[in-house]
Amino acid sequence: MAKARTQFVCQNCGTLHSRWAGKCEGCGEWNTIIEEDPTGGIGGGPTRAPKKGRPVALTTLSGEIEDAPRIETGISELDRVTGGGFVRGSALLVGGDPGIGKSTVLMQAAAALSRRKHRVIYVSGEEAIAQVRLRAQRLGAADSDVLLAAETNVEDILATLSEGKRPDLVIIDSIQTLWSDTADSAPGTVTQVRTGVQAMIRFAKQTGTAVVLVGHVTKEGQIAGPRVVEHMVDAVLYFEGDRGHHYRILRTVKNRFGPTDEIGVFEMSDRGLREVANPSELFLGERNEKSPGAAVFAGMEGTRPLLVEVQALVAPTSLGTPRRAVVGWDSARLSMILAVLEAHCGVRLGQHDDVYLNVAGGYRISEPAADLAVASALVSSLAGLALPADCVYFGEVSLSGAVRPVAHTAQRLKEAEKLGFSQAVLPSATTDLPKNGNGRWSEMESLPDLVARIAGSRRALQQSDEAE
Ligand code: TYD
Ligand code: MG
Repeated sequence: MAKARTQFVCQNCGTLHSRWAGKCEGCGEWNTIIEEDPTGGIGGGPTRAPKKGRPVALTTLSGEIEDAPRIETGISELDRVTGGGFVRGSALLVGGDPGIGKSTVLMQAAAALSRRKHRVIYVSGEEAIAQVRLRAQRLGAADSDVLLAAETNVEDILATLSEGKRPDLVIIDSIQTLWSDTADSAPGTVTQVRTGVQAMIRFAKQTGTAVVLVGHVTKEGQIAGPRVVEHMVDAVLYFEGDRGHHYRILRTVKNRFGPTDEIGVFEMSDRGLREVANPSELFLGERNEKSPGAAVFAGMEGTRPLLVEVQALVAPTSLGTPRRAVVGWDSARLSMILAVLEAHCGVRLGQHDDVYLNVAGGYRISEPAADLAVASALVSSLAGLALPADCVYFGEVSLSGAVRPVAHTAQRLKEAEKLGFSQAVLPSATTDLPKNGNGRWSEMESLPDLVARIAGSRRALQQSDEAE
């Protein structure tokens, strides 16, 4: 008998290799290539003769839709990120670090839905029934009608799901534990995960059930194992958060049926995750208003404004090479702001200063509009002058030092006013400034304007620099 051909698959990115290697050429990761049997269905092709195809009935776009296409949980932060509830017949992937709260939020969602008379099945492959029950008790969900199973075999799960009334929502916790008889590889390998996920997606499409899949994330921030899973599902949510802080952020990364830039904010309590309706208050909670180097950024997350504090520290270095450390922001962007400050504003950081940048509360900013807040925090720390406590900053900085306008000005200012900020520093070319606000807006044309404003004059800043 001919020897079955094997293939080598990178467990990180799914790239196929003809032989084993220490480093994957696809993603550059080391020690991620594992030998797998191709019968799992990637590239290897079918081993049996293909059966004759059966024609399917073609249909029209207009037609009856049986149920409401979305299932709302009533947990508004969760409904916000999904775009108004779970979509029937779709597969949603929830990724996140182990222990971040994926099982918790999904158990809460399951309980909420079953209280709304939906049939919900929770399949746990990671925890025993007793552990899941214990969590449900802690969440006050033990009295809900969520149906529970501890199972990892795909065929058994599918057989269970097709019994009885069609479920409205099925939660699979997690895809890394799924294994199928049809693939010969070990559980947790790319082939097994992919086969399992494919089967669950097919089940969702065929029955109109909403399927939620849980996936763990590796330290690089990718869904562990196959990145391909992200392409297969209809929506991907990431659960983020910092171990040192209580709040958690659910972020949409991909959504075929809704927005992709929304976040849902939760706080982890001893009785599960609580919704945080006004995240700005949370992120500004521990502010020290008198210290130099802190600027409040008026940001946007999807449709919602969000205020966060940006902290900078410029300090003499004790090392040969000065350090640039960033938490919660893009380090390349920090280098850019520093370069613009040096080139156009006469701010000399030079060889002798470490620069640290931190976004308060462990939050991550992705908007370029934070440039102006970052620059303000840097200049404030360098000059040793605290910024006004009731002022917010936003605007994008270009390489020429110009301050460019950003979208949603009115919303940012409204949120700032609501939280007691009466001043704002913003781009001069802003066209949608509100007419009737009672705040004071200072429009900046370029970064040197900002530096001059903070330091009184640019020369004062240079002199203090030279005096050192
Ligand atoms: P869990 O949902 O099990 O994480 P994941 O499924 O993402 O691996 O959450 C585990 C953490 O949450 C654990 O550290 C304990 C904490 N937790 C609370 O603080 N309060 C609670 O009510 C629950 C259920 C968990
Ligand atoms: Mg879990």
